[in-house]
Amino acid sequence: MTALPGVFTSCTSSKANGSGAGSGRPAQEFATASAIAFPKGFFWGTATASYQIEGAWKEDGKGESIWDRFTHTPGHIKNADTGDVACDSYHRWQEDIALMRAMNLNSYRFSIAWPRIQPLGSGSPNAKGLDYYNRLVDALLEAHIRPFVTLYHWDLPQALEDAGGWPNRETAGRFVDYVQIIARALGDRVTDFMIFNEPDAFVDLGYLDGTHAPGRKSILDFLRATHVVNLAQGEAFRAIKAARPNARVGTALSMSPCEPATDSEADKIAADRAHAITNVWFLEPALLGRYPDALTFLPETAMRIQPGDMEKTKAALDFVGINLYYRTIASAPGTTERVTHAQEWLFPVKMDGGQQGPRADNGWEVWPKALYDMVMRITRDYNRPVIEITESGCAYNDGPDASGVIRDARRITYHREYLAALAQAMQQGADVRGYHAWSLLDNFEWAEGYSQRFGLAYVDFKSGARTLKDSGRWYGEVARRNAVPAAKA
Ligand code: FCB
Repeated sequence: MTALPGVFTSCTSSKANGSGAGSGRPAQEFATASAIAFPKGFFWGTATASYQIEGAWKEDGKGESIWDRFTHTPGHIKNADTGDVACDSYHRWQEDIALMRAMNLNSYRFSIAWPRIQPLGSGSPNAKGLDYYNRLVDALLEAHIRPFVTLYHWDLPQALEDAGGWPNRETAGRFVDYVQIIARALGDRVTDFMIFNEPDAFVDLGYLDGTHAPGRKSILDFLRATHVVNLAQGEAFRAIKAARPNARVGTALSMSPCEPATDSEADKIAADRAHAITNVWFLEPALLGRYPDALTFLPETAMRIQPGDMEKTKAALDFVGINLYYRTIASAPGTTERVTHAQEWLFPVKMDGGQQGPRADNGWEVWPKALYDMVMRITRDYNRPVIEITESGCAYNDGPDASGVIRDARRITYHREYLAALAQAMQQGADVRGYHAWSLLDNFEWAEGYSQRFGLAYVDFKSGARTLKDSGRWYGEVARRNAVPAAKA
């Protein structure tokens, strides 16, 4: 944990787990002894993000993004890694589609780099940037793979950060202009959009925790940014619908079920607050036109909420995208902690990762039940919305053996068990339409650089060569059969 703990993402903020108590339930409680069938038409996909895979950071008129600036500034990223080249998907995208074909996938979640489209964050579109995504979309459709487009996965044009970034209300207007360009340019072929990827993560880590771009550490900037992003979400939703009435529009939210560390009343209240801020701070303004009860009071003035704003944040999202990796254990801080830190007074919650399950190579607890719990809670609390699992996955750093095979059995176990948990939620009424493994490729993992491998395909970062891992082959079988095969005894 950092000195100023991230409000939303305490266990992702340093992308490491803290110490938590946990409830002591077994991690593996979903039967996988027999095959589990999924409904016809279920989407089997992978997810990526522009900055994490594309490279070509200043090619074809692309402008500088906050991640270009952040990674080029020494001291921010492990091993001084950058996304300048990454997986070079800007040039090797056809190989990426070939991998998806080899895995029989029918959905690909990728994001559009705003600074490729508007290098300075406003004005007329850069044709070469649009061409790249046009080609990608056409090739996906030809391969019978749904293009599932994230409009913003964290690479804000640097020029907009220089003008105040997400805490500046005008950024919402700029975002809507950009979204309109995309809806007009791609919306004849792309029907499924996500407005944001993990708004909680990028405002928290970027404006409060400072470990992600743009690297600010300010509670005021953070509070303002959350509101501007909620406004941008509502306005962007309406802009897409105006341009493309048949589009299906949602957002990909990072979620993690929040369990109280003990049965005490104080820890239960802490868990409720943790849920409100971690999971639904960017959902309730859209669905219900209000902020959930996460803080001890709503700092409306500090957040610069204006009359009429909560009407503007509203958006009847067509689906709720869930990114889920692990659970969160919440507890109440002691009185001394509360009075000595302004932030803990406003948000009196400590959040840690669980401790009972096995751990991935980056320390995250593997806990399949987290996916079941979260999907069931969203299903119950919001009247059974359509859900897409927009990300789930694990960092295991297995590399090729002497014969070049990548035997990542632990990743197979992860996806098998998370899918079994998901299937159980679906049997109990959750309306889930797709699952997107994070990620197609090993890629640039933000502040961790290239030190964590999440891919179903291995990437040799020297040559750029891609090789399907055992998990990729296994996932391909899942997609082909539309069923998770029984675990071998
Ligand atoms: C999520 C991000 C994604 C990736 C995974 C591991 O929080 O959306 O870009 O970094 O974590």
